[in-house]
Amino acid sequence: MGEKVTVPDIVKKKHQSEKITCLTAYDYSFARILDQAGIDILLVGDSVGCVFQGQANTLPVTLDEMIYHTRAVVRGRKHALVVGDMPFLSYQVSRERAIANAGRLLQEGGAEGVKLEGGLAIQDTIEAIVKIGIPVMGHVGLTPQSVHRFGGYKIQGKSKEQREAIMGDALAVEAAGAFAVVLEGIPLDLAKEISERLTIPTIGIGAGPHCDGQVLVIHDMLGLFDDFTPKFVKRYADIKEVMTGAVKSFIADVRERKFPGAEHSFK
Ligand code: KIV
Repeated sequence: MGEKVTVPDIVKKKHQSEKITCLTAYDYSFARILDQAGIDILLVGDSVGCVFQGQANTLPVTLDEMIYHTRAVVRGRKHALVVGDMPFLSYQVSRERAIANAGRLLQEGGAEGVKLEGGLAIQDTIEAIVKIGIPVMGHVGLTPQSVHRFGGYKIQGKSKEQREAIMGDALAVEAAGAFAVVLEGIPLDLAKEISERLTIPTIGIGAGPHCDGQVLVIHDMLGLFDDFTPKFVKRYADIKEVMTGAVKSFIADVRERKFPGAEHSFK
């Protein structure tokens, strides 16, 4: 297994045309498996609100919850870079609060970087956080914390005006000093244009193959969350089916007095 992944390593990958891999993680056991498999970045996403807490969207997630999950993930990883998501209202109210809250994700959570949604509108905030030494990952395009403004999880960047705005957001995130930017839910040609124009890596989710890296929500790619499955998700395993089979076998074994056997019992 390789060395510890750092922020400069992630940036270097773009310049060496090496794809960056990123998956979400919310707990120790998953983080350990993903880390041992060789993932570059573990993102403690506020998607925890949907796939872990069962909320309708990410808006109810709190900073304390993000810190709790980040701590668990950090305990499970040896190599990957851990980035913690800044939840809704933890960075939009004032620059001072944003700096303090980003700091908490590092100081209390053990994250090595934070992720914020937005571009031009939060350029100053990103800059202020970066200035005190905290690595920032941007997030533009379909930003889930703006779900109500978008009227749902709709692909962004379809019109000329939207395309220009998203390009402007990506450039603003780069100018503010972010080390990478997530491009979510945008047409692949726009993602290609942004990836070619930016010197920092782009990490795509629903943004096509031309990004410098890819991220997926772990519950989506393992088939653990099937309330809805976006088109961009590739399901690499059906763990729900495996779990269901295992649980049914346990129930049957107990009811039929096959478990526990002598080998599971003490004399
Ligand atoms: O919260 C999250 O998991 C994310 C990724 C989908 C990029 O922001």
